[in-house]
Parts: sequence; structure tokens; C-alpha cells
Amino acid sequence: MDYFKRSRIKALLTEGKEKNDVMILGWVRTKRVSKNVAFLEINDGSGLKNIQVVIEATDIEKFNLSSINTGASVKIMGNLVKSLGKGQSVEMQPTTIELLGSAPEDYPLQKKRHSNEFLREIAHLRPRTNLFGVINRFRSKMAYAVHSFFQGQGFYYAHTPIITANDAEGAGETFQVTTLNLQKLLNADPKKGNGIIDYSQDFFASPTNLSVSGQLEAEILATALGDVYTFGPTFRAEKSNTTRHLSEFWMIEPEMAFADLQTDAKMAEMFLKYLAQYALDNCQEEMELFNKFVDKTHTRILTLENIVKSDFETVTYTDAVKILENAKKKFEFPVKWGIDLQSEHERYLTENHFKKPVAVIDYPKDIKAFYMRLNDDEKTVAAMDVLVPQVGEIIGGSQREDRYDYLERAMIKNNIPMDNEHGLGWYLELRKHGSVPHAGFGLGFARLLMYFSGVSNVRDIIPFPRTPKNARF
Ligand code: 4AD
Ligand code: MG
Repeated sequence: MDYFKRSRIKALLTEGKEKNDVMILGWVRTKRVSKNVAFLEINDGSGLKNIQVVIEATDIEKFNLSSINTGASVKIMGNLVKSLGKGQSVEMQPTTIELLGSAPEDYPLQKKRHSNEFLREIAHLRPRTNLFGVINRFRSKMAYAVHSFFQGQGFYYAHTPIITANDAEGAGETFQVTTLNLQKLLNADPKKGNGIIDYSQDFFASPTNLSVSGQLEAEILATALGDVYTFGPTFRAEKSNTTRHLSEFWMIEPEMAFADLQTDAKMAEMFLKYLAQYALDNCQEEMELFNKFVDKTHTRILTLENIVKSDFETVTYTDAVKILENAKKKFEFPVKWGIDLQSEHERYLTENHFKKPVAVIDYPKDIKAFYMRLNDDEKTVAAMDVLVPQVGEIIGGSQREDRYDYLERAMIKNNIPMDNEHGLGWYLELRKHGSVPHAGFGLGFARLLMYFSGVSNVRDIIPFPRTPKNARF
């Protein structure tokens, strides 16, 4: 089996040793043929660097190089020798070159700079570019770091449902899940029960949707296992066509029993610091590329070092509003106590005022979700948003309302159905059975990766973005 016999290019280049009878499997990045010699640059996805295959002029015909274009897949056997050229430790002298899958002359990824907009149109090929290879490997490594942080802190990884009957955030931005032929129902004879959908006929016998957050179920598990975290896809039918919003995104949601808002903020800070240190220690190749080619100010590595070094700021919403009111900057959306902070406000706070990550806490209760714990002032709730330069809100969290009567009141006020069959009766009932203070937060994985890499459009940080009017690939 070639699969187990081949060497990965990253390993060969890292080792940098001369070696005979090596097999590589990969794709041709470039081919250069001159009178005396030809070069193939091969990449197999294991890392950013290509291996250079050097072919003597006399062998060009033997290897049938004219049939091997950029983009083709090949199996190459040969010997590794010290390279005289710059930029690589060893290069390969082939003994055989086998074309596995050919590519046409007009293969879309020729050696030149392509715009990210163009590459979005060919998302089936873009992972083969340097930038998107690095982004996808970075994603994988940072996902591993997420698990290693929480496992190290004694948290259990929880799987919360993707199909659910609740809209955890209560924002009404859910994607419906149904097996009913809605079109048929809508076209049905108006005299026969027009327009009213009988969900008892539907698959789950109740309206269901894709989950916007695993939090409510994570609370169940936290009040049994103590500390849990989720890491899974969430779905929001927000019509926001921005550079920071996806309709399908991966979220990490820790939930901690016996924790208050201060603990929550501390855990969020420890988590971000751990992730920054992890990227510095384990993703050098990726961070160097981001620093050099993605971040125009070349300060990505510095930014991560600063996250690790300096303490985050905490400011109450009320004080944040005062800062914004006194700001010299003219905002598009005027600021007064009670408004939901817009992205321009968030970015002013973190980029211009504090110049580092900042946790804004204690928001007005009317602009936050029903489940947040009411503060003693009865006007604000124990909420927390962590804001970072460039991205704005990266984390949203809160201490949860753990008092039965307070939660019941909030649910009534927010029109949250409380029956046990289809509504959130079970969520309220949790507060009857050994209720404890508990808190948690959600980190948007895409936003984290944007912050660390400097990639400015969320469509480029996830391999296959879902956004309004786009579910291609
Ligand atoms: O602030 P959000 O809506 O909070 C929750 O969902 C809570 N249930 C979390 C919790 O306490 N367990 O979302 C959390 C984070 C945001 O701060 C943001 O980073 C990200 O999820 N996020 C999105 N990322 C990409 N596209 C979207 N449309 C996003 N909406 C939220
Ligand atoms: Mg939020």
C-alpha cells in the first residue's frame, strides 16, 4: 500500500537528511523546464513547504514531463540529496515519476496571486493554495488546543443536540427543520384549514429548528457533571451580510456549576491566553505566514504575545457608555444608556480606548437573553461580552438565572413557552432540583481564528462558508 510506504513532505524537509528510495505522493505546484534542467515543486498538504524535484535535461523525455501540468497528482520515487539551492535543506532526484491524475493547461491555480474573492468562487480548489492550506491546518491545530485546554481544566466534552425545539437565544433567527411538504400545505385549499400548519403531522410532532446554541442543554449537563464544554456547529438565520457573520459557525460553550460572573470572565481570559500561547508554540509556520502576508501591520505575533502577557480589562456597560459618550469620535448610531452596543462602539472601546481585549459586564436586562441572572439593581443582568481589536465581540456569556421565581418572571416577560411538552418547562424545572449558581460563555471559533490570523473576512476562515443566499460547496 503506497499510503503507508510514502513519506510526508513536511517530515522529509524537517529532517533534512539524505536518503535513498523515498516515495512521495502529492500535487504539482509548479513546473519549470529549461534547457539543462527541469524542476517540479510538489506539495502533499502536510505543510506549507514544497519539495523540489530536480530532473536532468536528459531525463525530461523519459519522465514524460510534457504530460505533467501544474495541479496534476503524482507519485514520485527517488533519492533525497543535499540541496544546493536556497530555501530547502534537501531536494529529490527522481527515479520514477508516475502521473496519477492529470490537470489541464488552464488549471485555475497557476503560480500568481489570486484575490480572496476569486478563490471563494473556487472553494473546491482553494485549500490547495498556500494561504488556505495554512488556514485549514491552523483551524485543525486550534481545535485541538480547545480540547486540550478544557480537558486540562477537568471539563467534560458534551454533545448537545443539533436539532432542537428551542431557540436558546430567543432572537427568532432559527432555521426550521421539517419533513412536511410546506409548499403543498401552503397551496392547500384555503377552505381546508388554510395556512395553519399542523405540526402533530411533522416528524417530531412539534416545530423544530437547527440549534443556535447548545447552552441550555449544556446547563443540564453542568448541573450533573460539574464542568462541561461543547464544541459544535450552530446555525443562525441572521440576515447580516457582514465580514463577521456566518449562518453556520462552530461555537465553543463551556458551562460551569458553582461559578459566578467573575469566575466566568476569569475562565474566558485563561482560555484566550492558553490559545494564544498554543498558537505561538505550535503553529509557527502558520503564524509567520499570517504575520508576513495577511496582517498588513505585521503585528499578529506581537498581538498574541500581548494577549498572553497583559491582563484583560473589565468595564461595566454603564461605564462603557460613559466612555463612548465622552469620545471625540462621531458614531453612526448615537449612544445612550439602554442601547445595544453596535460594532463601531465595540471596536472603539477595544481598539481606541483600552487597546486590548476588554470584558464588558452588567448589560441592561432588556437587551440580553432571558436566562441571564438579574443583578441586585434589577436593571442589569450578569452578562459578559469579550471584545477584541479588529473583530469586536468574540465571546458572549453570562451567569445564569438560578432562582426559580426570577427565571419564571423573565420567561413570562419574554414570551418563552413554558409547557413541558414543547416549551422550556424542563429548563425552569432545573431550578427546582438542587439549583446552583452557574455560568458559561460562547466563543465563536471563526472569530477567534480571524483575530489570531488577521484574516479579515469570515468567509475565508471556514472552508465552506454558509451566508445569506450562499450554500454552495
Ligand atoms: O453572544 P452569543 O449569541 O451567545 C450565545 O450563543 C450564548 N448561548 C453563549 C453562552 O453563554 N453559552 O454567541 C457567542 C459567540 C459570539 O460572541 C460570537 O463570537 C459568535 O458566538 N457568533 C458568531 N460567529 C459567527 N457568525 C455568527 N453569526 C455569530 N453569532 C455569534
Ligand atoms: Mg452576543
